[in-house]
This record gives sequence, C-alpha cells and structure tokens, in this order.
Amino acid sequence: MKVLNIGSMNLDHVYNVDHIVQPGETQATDGMNIFLGGKGMNQSIALAKAGADVYHGGMIGKDGQAFLQACDEYGVNSKYIKKVEGKTGHAIIQIDKSAQNCILLYGGTNEKLTEEYVDSVIADFDEGDILLLQNEVNLIPYIVDKAYEKGMQIALNPSPFNERLDAVDMSKISYFLMNEVEGGQITGLTEPDDIIAKVVELYPNAKIVLTLGGDGAIYADKDVRYHQPIFKVEAVDTTAAGDTFTGYFLAGIIDGMEIPDILKMSAKASSIAVTREGAVPSIPYRKEVMEALG
Ligand code: RIB
Repeated sequence: MKVLNIGSMNLDHVYNVDHIVQPGETQATDGMNIFLGGKGMNQSIALAKAGADVYHGGMIGKDGQAFLQACDEYGVNSKYIKKVEGKTGHAIIQIDKSAQNCILLYGGTNEKLTEEYVDSVIADFDEGDILLLQNEVNLIPYIVDKAYEKGMQIALNPSPFNERLDAVDMSKISYFLMNEVEGGQITGLTEPDDIIAKVVELYPNAKIVLTLGGDGAIYADKDVRYHQPIFKVEAVDTTAAGDTFTGYFLAGIIDGMEIPDILKMSAKASSIAVTREGAVPSIPYRKEVMEALG
C-alpha cells in the first residue's frame, strides 16, 4: 500500500523569543534558524522515517531545492514535486521559553496546484492506497473528490482549519487526524468527548485521532475508543509534534499494527521530536522510537 501526500513545503524561519510577541510590541529575539518544514513535508518525512512507502506531491520555487535533497536523504519519493515560478512557501515561527509556538504562513508555490497536475498524479495510484492531505495547499476539495473516485482511502489533517475546508465533502474522509482546536472548529464543540461523539455520529465510517496536547491523544471509531497519555519530556520546540504523530500513526496502520500499539509508537515519536529544534530535523527514525519504547 502506497501513500500519496499532496502537501505543503515551507522554509521555516524560526525565532526564539521570550514570549509570543504582543500587538504593538517590538521584541528582540534570542536566535534565528531556517529549517525545512511545512505540515505536508513534515508528515511525509515522518511516514518515511517510520518505514512507509511515501510519495510527496506539491510545488516548490527555485528556492526550494533543499526539499528534494531532504526527500532523497530521508527516503521520500519526490517524483511528483514540481518546480514552478514563484517563491516556495515559508513560515515565520516564534518559539517561546516554554517551547510553545505560533506560526505565520506564506503559501507561495504551495498554492499553485492545478487540476491537471492533481489528475496526473492521482492517475498513478490505486484503489486502497492512502491519500494524505493537510490544509496548506489549494484545491483540497478537488483532490478529495478525485482520490475518492479512484477508491483511495483519504486521511485528512484539517490544519490549519479555515473556510477553505467548507467545500470538502467530509463523508469521503476515512481518517481524521486533528487536534482539539481543529476538532472544535469542525464540530462547533469544545469537550474532546463531545467532539469525538459528533464526528462519529456525522461520519460513522471514519476513524478519528484527536490529539490533546499535554493530555495525550484519543483514537475512536464507531466501535472502539482508546486513550494514549503523553510521554513526559523536557520540550524545546513543539513544532511538528502533531505532524510526527500523524506520520507515525498512518505508518502503523499500513503495517497492520494494533491501534493501542500505534498510539504508543506515535506518542513516543512525538515526544522525541519536541526535544529537538526545527520541524523536519526533529523527526526521529523508527529504530530510535522503538528502542526508546524498550
Ligand atoms: O506543523 C508545523 C508546520 O506548520 C511548520 O513546519 C510550518 O511550516 C507550518 O506548516
């Protein structure tokens, strides 16, 4: 089973700050780095490092060559990544003293997908393959429809959640992978139990993963529900923790693992990622995750 991830590639400009800057405030930063990121690329690299056969699709500009090198280095198939005119997407990220972040996005070439491009990529995949999507590229409703016609299983990480997702036929989604904020935005509810109950009611054939920050993560479908606590660590940068969880979760599904084992592996992988700076460079290999689990 192959995974096609049509998703963002962002050059993350990461600033270490005392606190997230307030309106009207000017604040000197304690340091700055540029890392490879983008929810799409982070999740592809997590899948590959977890051992899955993953193809990344999306657009970069001339300044995005490093993404192709990263794909080669980490084992992501990059044959569907296209170079187009314009600037590669980027993010401005503040990391505060408690390792929390806030992110400003510039879509750039991530927003340049065309229907012809989507059709040509999806044509190479088969019924049962997984399509993974986030919400940092254009044409999400179109991509969902085309993959569904093809019989692919669609995994959606509705992040960042915005009105662009209103046009998505959510009944076509097989896996929802989201945090409690996004779950709240999809359902209009706030309590994790209520969010899960609503999503199960609306989409009874879907499987749901709801990450809850310090409270861990919940997996649910219409038959079962499991809770996975976090592994407590000293975090330095929480960027890509959710992306790491998503990639590892899907890799576990592909491997046919039991859900509680998948949740444990994904939580451990995320807990390692937050102890390191950056998005892509922070994601651990499966060997390291399994050794840490003992
Ligand atoms: O999920 C983290 C990612 O969100 C960052 O790498 C940034 O690029 C944004 O897409």
